[in-house]
Amino acid sequence: MTFGAELQGWYQQHKRDLPWRETRDAYKIWLSEIILQQTRVEQGLPYYLRFVERFETVVDFANAEEDDILHLWQGLGYYSRGRNMHKAARIVRDEYNGIFPIDYKTLLKLPGIGEYTAAAISSFSNNEAQAVLDGNVFRVLSRYYGIDTAINSTEGKKIFTAIAQENLDQDHPALYNQAIMDFGAIHCKPKQPLCITCMFNTSCYAVLQGEVDRLPVKLKG
Ligand code: ADE
Repeated sequence: MTFGAELQGWYQQHKRDLPWRETRDAYKIWLSEIILQQTRVEQGLPYYLRFVERFETVVDFANAEEDDILHLWQGLGYYSRGRNMHKAARIVRDEYNGIFPIDYKTLLKLPGIGEYTAAAISSFSNNEAQAVLDGNVFRVLSRYYGIDTAINSTEGKKIFTAIAQENLDQDHPALYNQAIMDFGAIHCKPKQPLCITCMFNTSCYAVLQGEVDRLPVKLKG
């Protein structure tokens, strides 16, 4: 079985039921992804539910007062995220007819949307073949392939981007992306990963070489 097929098999059994996985609405997926930047799922979930209840569409969101958005945002920190969201929503309302973009290139032009978020929204909403690369994915790939180039170096970013994109299941990008992120979050954890019960424990470089705790490598500062 391929790496991607193994991951998807794992995901079918272990995935977390999360409300933003029940929708293909790019607006709602965008909300969830921005909220979940630097925020754990358990903490972000009630915020996500309040936001979608209060602002059903991106136009509702754009029409809100910034103060209302920042008020709902209270407790999440990094208020620039909330402000950028408001700007992005107004651009979607005014320049895209209120229809949230679903393609990677267009998404990248919106404030607050970087490569990770554009890949997440375009794959989850539209199955565009864009591999996500977040902390979870860096960890899984660095351990499995034994890559010790720093994940926060220019060189590392290039290497990991290429491997992530090669591994992506072209037929099921959304499923594959969710699977590798959940696998990193729940199974291939930073501390005390579950190697004993892992389906990769006879193929993972880090397990075979006893380097699980050394990978991924990150430069300080
Ligand atoms: N963290 C960031 N995006 C996520 C997603 N779509 N599901 C679970 N955790 C996430």
